[in-house]
Amino acid sequence: MKPALTLYLAAPRGFCAGVDRAVKIVEMSLEKWGAPVYVRHEIVHNKYVVDTLRDKGAVFVEELDECPVDRPVIFSAHGVPKSVPAEAERRNMIYVDATCPLVSKVHLEAERHAEEGLQIIMIGHTGHPEVIGTMGQLPEGEVLLVETAADVATLEVRDPEKIAWITQTTLSVDDTAEVVAALKARFPTLVGPGKDDICYATTNRQAAVKAVAPQVEALLVIGAPNSSNSKRLVEVGRNAGCAVSHLIERATDIPWEALEGLEKVGLTAGASAPDALIEEVLNAFKDHFDLTVETVETAKERIEFKTPRIFRHDA
Ligand code: F3S
Repeated sequence: MKPALTLYLAAPRGFCAGVDRAVKIVEMSLEKWGAPVYVRHEIVHNKYVVDTLRDKGAVFVEELDECPVDRPVIFSAHGVPKSVPAEAERRNMIYVDATCPLVSKVHLEAERHAEEGLQIIMIGHTGHPEVIGTMGQLPEGEVLLVETAADVATLEVRDPEKIAWITQTTLSVDDTAEVVAALKARFPTLVGPGKDDICYATTNRQAAVKAVAPQVEALLVIGAPNSSNSKRLVEVGRNAGCAVSHLIERATDIPWEALEGLEKVGLTAGASAPDALIEEVLNAFKDHFDLTVETVETAKERIEFKTPRIFRHDA
């Protein structure tokens, strides 16, 4: 007889509107231009999604100079520095920008602050493509990066009275609030967004994990090791009281030994993890346990983003 287990399924979980749009852009590009189409960087940080698109004819590269000039290239959902579309134009390439509209919104904020003569401090993770893309909207040195509240003390700014702040969209809501508090304490005239630039999907997935974590003995987050929002969900789970929080890519990564003897396990998925992987994990749980699934829903999401004009029939 299989042991009984209740799985608490966080909602919302999985694909966000920006990821959904980016994946559709690659699929529609393959339909419109045929294979191969090139994609600069993983379209979203998920190996399964990337492998599936690669099987359909997408070629993933890291830099534009790896693409032939006579094939279309797509820029990933994370956004790109201004120099990238400029270079594509210089090379006369067809390009489609799959940057999430909520990342583009932060790009515009940065430009607006710069036009107003403000120096910008970005809260984000060093080396993440979204951070590289957002900082690259302005000339080098115009945007300073901080990761933690401790970084704020060592910042060297041009004029402490002319500072604005922006954030990466996939940060921990709670950690970011600490950094913002440190910034406000050091730069009282600081200009910024109402709360932060963390997107609705990141915020909602973290809130759902906070509701699940205190009820369970272990939490599994489906997501890639390079997915910022998925890694944050693991941390949020731990901080909300579930010490045994794991990131898994697929069902084969489920740490069955760690789950032995447990009765309540939580499950969620980062914004770049597709439904197919959630189904795969659910089915593996059904094979191992006499399973009861309870959904813990903290928000409903109805956001959808339009695909670019170039794919509409009249274009
Ligand atoms: Fe966009 Fe947020 Fe998803 S910024 S890509 S909606 S995680």
